[in-house]
Amino acid sequence: MIKKIGVFTSGGDAPGMNACIRAVVRCAASHKKEVTGILHGFDGMIKGTMIKLFPNDVSNIIHRGGTIIKTARSKEFMTHVGMRKAYENLKRHHIDGLVAIGGEGTFKGCSEFSQKYDFPFIGIPGTIDNDLCGTDYTLGFDTAINTTLEAIDKIKDTAASHDRLFFVEVMGRDTGYIALWTGIASGADEILLPETKTDIPALIKLLEQRQKQGKSTIVIVAEGDEAGGALKTADEVRKKLPELDTRVTILGHIQRGGSPTCFDRIMATRLGVAAVELLISGESGKMVGMINNQLAITPLESACKARSPLDKELLRFIKMMTS
Ligand code: F6P
Repeated sequence: MIKKIGVFTSGGDAPGMNACIRAVVRCAASHKKEVTGILHGFDGMIKGTMIKLFPNDVSNIIHRGGTIIKTARSKEFMTHVGMRKAYENLKRHHIDGLVAIGGEGTFKGCSEFSQKYDFPFIGIPGTIDNDLCGTDYTLGFDTAINTTLEAIDKIKDTAASHDRLFFVEVMGRDTGYIALWTGIASGADEILLPETKTDIPALIKLLEQRQKQGKSTIVIVAEGDEAGGALKTADEVRKKLPELDTRVTILGHIQRGGSPTCFDRIMATRLGVAAVELLISGESGKMVGMINNQLAITPLESACKARSPLDKELLRFIKMMTS
C-alpha cells in the first residue's frame, strides 16, 4: 500500500513541471497520502536531499516556469553504487512510490531502478522536445513552441527590413519537433531537421533564387541537424554566397523558460492526478501521457525505445509551404 509518494523532476526543465508537481501534491493529499519532493532529480535521491510538500507549499506556482524542486542530469545514478544509495535514502524517508517527471534519460534510469529494486514508479513526459512515444505531447512543448514562434516572428520583421538571410537555430538535440512546428507556423522559407538529410547545394540554389527576387529569407535549423547546426550551415552558405547579408540567431534556453500555456497547465494537472491515482491503484513501470486528448498509459520501456517520429503530414508541408 502506497502511503508516501516521492516526486522529482529530471533532465532539462520544461514549462508545466511546477503545475504538475502541484497536481501530484494536491491529488495525493485528497487521497490522504503524503508527498516528498526530491531535490535535483536522481542526484537528490543519492544525496538524500528531500523536502516534505504539503498543499500550501505548492500555492502560486501553477503559472511559473522551471521547477521548484530543481532538476539535474545525473551520471552517478546510472552506477550500482548510485542506485543503491538512492534506494537506501528512499527507504529512510519512507517513500514507497515515485512520480518521475522528465524525458527519455529519466525514464531509462527509472526503468532500470524499478527492475533492480522492485520500486513502484510512474513517469510523466516532461520535456520541451516532444520526442517520447506513447503521448501526442510532452509537458512544455506547447509553451516552448509558442515562445519560439514569437521570437521568429520578431526576427522576420527585422530580416524583411534589411533584406537579410537569417538562420534561426531552435532546440532539439535529437529531434526536429520544435523546428518543424515553428518552421511551418512562422512561414519559414526552409526548415532543417535531424530526421531529414540537409541538401546544402539545394539550399544555396534556393537562396540564390530568393536573392534575385529581392526577398529576405528565414531558415529554421534544429540544433541537432546532421549538417551541423545554424553556425556551420551559415558558414557554408557564406563561402558560396558572400554577397548575402547573413545573420545567425541561436534562440537557446529562452525556449525552456517562461509561464506555461493554458494547454500545458491543464495537461500537467491531468497527468499529475493520473500518475498519483495509478500509483495508488498498484500500477508501476508506466508512463502516463495523452493520445487524442485521452489519458494513455504506456510501459516506460516502450516510451523510450524509439524517438517519437515527426508528423508525416507536417513534413509533407515543408516543400509545399516554403518559398
Ligand atoms: O532536452 C531538452 C533540451 O532543451 C534539448 O532540446 C537541448 O538540446 C538540451 O535540452 C539542452 O540541454 P542543457 O540545458 O543541458 O544544455
